[in-house]
Amino acid sequence: MLVISLATLFVTFTATNAHLDEKHVHATKAANGAATLTASGVPALASITLGMASGTPVPLSKTFTPGASAPISAATTIPTFVFSPGDWPAADKPPDPTSPEVLEWMKELDGHHIPDISTTVDGTCASSPEAAANASARGWWSCGGYTRDTDITVCPDPKTWGVSFDDGPSPYTPSKDISATFFVVGSRVISYPQTLVAEYEAGHEIAVHTWSHTHLTTQSNAQIVAELGWTRKAIKAVIGVTPLAMRPPFGDADDRVRAIALAMGLVPIQWTRTPAGVAFDTNDWKVAGGMMTGVEQYNTFQSILGNASTLDTGFCVLQHDLFEITVDLAIGYTIPAALNANFKLEAIGKCSGFPARNIYRETMTNTTFPYKDGSSSSSSGASTNSGLSLLCVFALAFVLSSAIRW
Ligand SMILES: *[C@@H]1O[C@H](CO)[C@@H](O)[C@H](O)[C@H]1NC(C)=O
Ligand SMILES: *[C@@H]1O[C@H](CO)[C@@H](O)[C@H](O)[C@H]1NC(C)=O
Ligand SMILES: *[C@@H]1O[C@H](CO)[C@@H](O)[C@H](O)[C@H]1NC(C)=O
Ligand SMILES: [Zn+2]
Repeated sequence: MLVISLATLFVTFTATNAHLDEKHVHATKAANGAATLTASGVPALASITLGMASGTPVPLSKTFTPGASAPISAATTIPTFVFSPGDWPAADKPPDPTSPEVLEWMKELDGHHIPDISTTVDGTCASSPEAAANASARGWWSCGGYTRDTDITVCPDPKTWGVSFDDGPSPYTPSKDISATFFVVGSRVISYPQTLVAEYEAGHEIAVHTWSHTHLTTQSNAQIVAELGWTRKAIKAVIGVTPLAMRPPFGDADDRVRAIALAMGLVPIQWTRTPAGVAFDTNDWKVAGGMMTGVEQYNTFQSILGNASTLDTGFCVLQHDLFEITVDLAIGYTIPAALNANFKLEAIGKCSGFPARNIYRETMTNTTFPYKDGSSSSSSGASTNSGLSLLCVFALAFVLSSAIRW
């Protein structure tokens, strides 16, 4: 089981540590053994591993009180959020699909075509061979990489990284000068409301990543509505606005999941796969799970940058802020590596050309956004690395179920 300190590690991403160069990274690779914090507060790469010592707790650099003005003009001020357990489903557990709230949100599906696609056993190809044989017709992303035109999978401009962090907020959520999209877990939103407000106020984009981090293709329509609806409600309760995008945990979405998300006004955002089937997963979660070293992870990321340089678009990458380890890897190594290689780093909505006000429902001005449903879209490229995604799915499930124990 993972030993996770509740210490807060807030690393301010300054111009100085944004330019950590190759030399610095190589130097720190040699520094073996116990975690040694560098001047910027990030441990040496070789020491970033499961069981590493925790960083020095640093409190949130800035907190915001109810009534603080929002970062987007026309958005409501920061609401007063008082956590009351009776108001919310149990943390990290699938919410009741028959609650009055869910029955109300189910009405949002009225008038939308929700394909009648059977549920999968556990979101993997291996456990549902019949569904896997039909993955292309289902548009199943985590089993073969099938996408639809309504998915966001890349940033349009070459050499542009649409940065995102999944699974938070957590005590380790980074604070930095570049903008990113945070795909947040509803139960953690109400546990760390101040962190979410700080992300929003700093100009980051907030989007939905479900309530209990479940495989959505395994869930009934009402269960999917419950996962998305409660997370959307939690975000609105804490920052005052409703997001317009979601990322399915494990990338596990098919045309039914897509249609439900779109009917609820949430555009699915995945991470990039190259035409040859290389999925842009930083593997940071493997380091947090003890399956990979920090150095190996850094090398994986260099391959991603190498592949990204060959694309005629920009790209999105899977990266997490749930664990101190994954935040250290991002702040100390992967983000500086991308900046040094002259990639442009932006939140995904921003790189996609959405003005900040169009990231949230209450401030959105474009009446053709969000999309009405996914039924008119066409199939696009499949890839062949379902073996890789399977491994990821199992391993990530392990990491998260370990985390959930605390
Ligand atoms: C494959 O999936 C499509 C889309 O859901 C469905 O229409 C079709 O009946 C499925 N085919 C089989 C053999 O299951
Ligand atoms: C692309 O990624 C693959 C798999 O990680 C790697 O073997 C290959 O070297 C990468 N290509 C470039 C140009 O970096
Ligand atoms: C509104 O959003 C749609 C979908 O993203 C886009 O195609 C269209 O150009 C946007 N229109 C305006 C006026 O921004
Ligand atoms: Zn996740």
